Amino acid sequence: MLVFVLAASAATDNITPGRSIRDGEALVSSDETFELGFFSSPVNSTTRYLGIWYKVSPETVVWIANREAPLLDHFGVLNVTKEGSIILQDKKTGIIWSSNRTRTAENPVLQLLDSGNLVVKDGNDSGSANLLWQSFDYPCNTLLPGMKLGKSFITGMNWSLSSWKGLNDPAPGRFSALIEPEGFPQLVVRNGSAIFYRGGSWNGERFTGTPDLKQVESFNLFKFTFELNKNEVYYRGEPYPSLISRLVVNQSGFLRRLVRTKQSQSWIEIYFAPLDECDHYAVCGPYASCSTNNCACLDGFEPKYPTEWDHSKWSGGCVRKTELACQNSVFTKYNGLKLPDTSNSSFDASMSLKECQEKCSKNCSCIAYANSDIRNGGNGCLLWFGDLIDMRIYPDGGQDLYVRMANSTLGHLVASKNLSKNKIVAIIVIAVILVGLILGGLIFFLRWKKLRKQAEGGKDDMELPVFDLSTIVKATDNFSDDNKLGQGGFGPVYKGTLPEGQEIAVKRLSKSSGQGLEEFKNEVGLIAKLQHRNLVRLLGCSIPGDEKMLIYEYMPNKSLDYFIFDQTKSELLDWRRRMHIIDGIARGLLYLHQDSRLRIIHRDLKPAMCY
Ligand SMILES: *[C@@H]1O[C@H](CO)[C@@H](O)[C@H](O)[C@H]1NC(C)=O
Ligand SMILES: *[C@@H]1O[C@H](CO)[C@@H](O)[C@H](O)[C@H]1NC(C)=O
Repeated sequence: MLVFVLAASAATDNITPGRSIRDGEALVSSDETFELGFFSSPVNSTTRYLGIWYKVSPETVVWIANREAPLLDHFGVLNVTKEGSIILQDKKTGIIWSSNRTRTAENPVLQLLDSGNLVVKDGNDSGSANLLWQSFDYPCNTLLPGMKLGKSFITGMNWSLSSWKGLNDPAPGRFSALIEPEGFPQLVVRNGSAIFYRGGSWNGERFTGTPDLKQVESFNLFKFTFELNKNEVYYRGEPYPSLISRLVVNQSGFLRRLVRTKQSQSWIEIYFAPLDECDHYAVCGPYASCSTNNCACLDGFEPKYPTEWDHSKWSGGCVRKTELACQNSVFTKYNGLKLPDTSNSSFDASMSLKECQEKCSKNCSCIAYANSDIRNGGNGCLLWFGDLIDMRIYPDGGQDLYVRMANSTLGHLVASKNLSKNKIVAIIVIAVILVGLILGGLIFFLRWKKLRKQAEGGKDDMELPVFDLSTIVKATDNFSDDNKLGQGGFGPVYKGTLPEGQEIAVKRLSKSSGQGLEEFKNEVGLIAKLQHRNLVRLLGCSIPGDEKMLIYEYMPNKSLDYFIFDQTKSELLDWRRRMHIIDGIARGLLYLHQDSRLRIIHRDLKPAMCY
C-alpha cells in the first residue's frame, strides 16, 4: 500500500548520517526561532546559499556556510558524515563546503539549537565535551546572544565579524569587527587593515566608547559578558527570553544592535556606531580630544601644525607646550573621556589607582594611567606607553585619564642633577623672590586695571566672554538675511560661524527693549551661571555702543515644533526618541527649578525655539 505524505513532514531540528537536507527542505530549531535551509539573494536567484535565519524574519540571515562559494543550481544537499563532518555538495561540482573537525565521532548528530547555533555532537548528550563543531565558532556578519566575539589564545580561533561584500553578496567584505587583544583588549572595526572605529577597551560595564549603552543597560534587558583570562578574551551578549537581539556589522562598517519580539513586524535599531564625526578613529590626532565634531588639544598641549589645525585639518594632532622631563613630572587629570587607544598599554587588574600612579611615575615611558575598571568607584590599573590617540569627550559616562605633564613650576630647576645642594637652594630662593615680585606686580596691575575699568563704567567685569563687534559681523556675514534664523520678541536672531568653526546663534536685542546696561549685565551674568546639557548654552555677549547682543551655541537639529507639527517629519520621532526628548525636557526643568545655583521658575515652555 502506498502512503502519500501530503503536508511537509514535521520539521526536525537534527539529522544523522544517512539522512540529508535538500534544497527546499529545512531544519527548524525546537522552539521554532531559527531555520536552516537554502536561499537565494532576492536579486540573483541562480546562486544558492546554505544559511540560518529567523523563522519570523526569513530575510534576516544570520549565518551562511558557503558564503564564498555559492551553489549554482537548486540541487544542493547537506549531509553529516559517519565521522562527523558536515558536507554541502552539488550534483555537478561535488563538495562545495565542509566543516573541519578535531576528532572522529562515533554517533554524530547535526542539530540546529534554539540559540541559532548549528552543532555537530557525538551522541545525543548535549554536554560541551561532545561538541565536535559549532557554527558559533565561525561568525559571519552577525553576533547572536551566546556567541563570542574575541580570540582563543589556546586554539588561535578568531571569533570576528565580517561585513557582507554587497547587498546581494554575502562574501566577506571590507569591514570586520573584532576584539583585538594587543595591549589591553579593545573592540575595533577595521576597514581592510585600517582602523575605522574603535569601541575601545572594556571598563567593567561597557566599552569605553559606548556610553550610550548606559541607558540601554538600565532597561536591564541586555546582559553582556566580557571575559579576559590566559586562555581567551571575548565579549558575549547573553540571551534574554522574550527578545530577539543581534549585533551586525553592515556593508558600510557600522555596528548595529537590532531587537524585536517574535510578534513584532520589524526590527528596532537600539544602537549604532560610529555615531558621529568624533567616532571616526583618530580624527583629532594625538593628544587631542573630539567634542561635537570639533577637535581640541588637551590642556598643556598645542596644535602641531597650527595653520592646518585652523582649517579643521586635525589629523596632525597636538604636541606638548613644555617638554617632559621625566624626573620632574606631575599627572594632570582629564575627565569625561573615551579612553585612548590601548594597543600600546599594559594593565594590572589588582592595582589601586594610587599604586597605578606610582607604577606610572617610576617608568619614564609611561605617558598616562587610568582605572581599568569603573565599577565600585574604580579599580585596576591601565598604563599607556605611546601617544594618546582617539579620545573624545562625553557629557555623561566618560572616564578619567591622568596624563604625565612637565612640572612647570619647578621645570628647569632640577634639570641638571649635577647642581650642588647649595646652588639649588640659592636658585630656589631667587626663584621664590622672583615669583613673589612677579605675582605682586601682577596683582597690582590687575587692581589698577579694574579700578580704571570701574572709573570708565567697566564693560567686561563679568565672567562671560565679551565678543568684539567685528567678530560677530564676520561670523554672521554682516547680519545677512541669509543667516537670519528668526525674529524673537526681543529682536532678530542670526546664525554665525566663528573663525574656529564653532556655530553660534546671535540674538540682537532691539534698542527699544528698554533694558539698561546694568540690568542686561546682571541678566547675562545669571544666565551664564546656568550650565546644563539640556539648556542652550550662552557663550557670551557683545555690547558695541548702545547695542546689546547675546551669543548662544547654535542648535543644528532645529526645534521640536519643526518636527512634531509636520506630518512627515513627525514620523522621524519614534517613541524611543520622544521618550528621550521628554526625559531631556524634564531634566532641564528640574535643573532650573531645583538643582541649579539659582532658582528659576520656567513659565513659558513651548516646542518652538525662542532664543
Ligand atoms: C549601515 O548602518 C548604518 C546605521 O544604521 C546606516 O546609516 C547605513 O545606511 C547602513 N549601511 C548600509 C549599506 O545599509
Ligand atoms: C617601562 O615600561 C615598558 C613597557 O612596559 C618596559 O618595556 C620597560 O622595561 C619599562 N622600563 C623600566 C625602566 O621599568
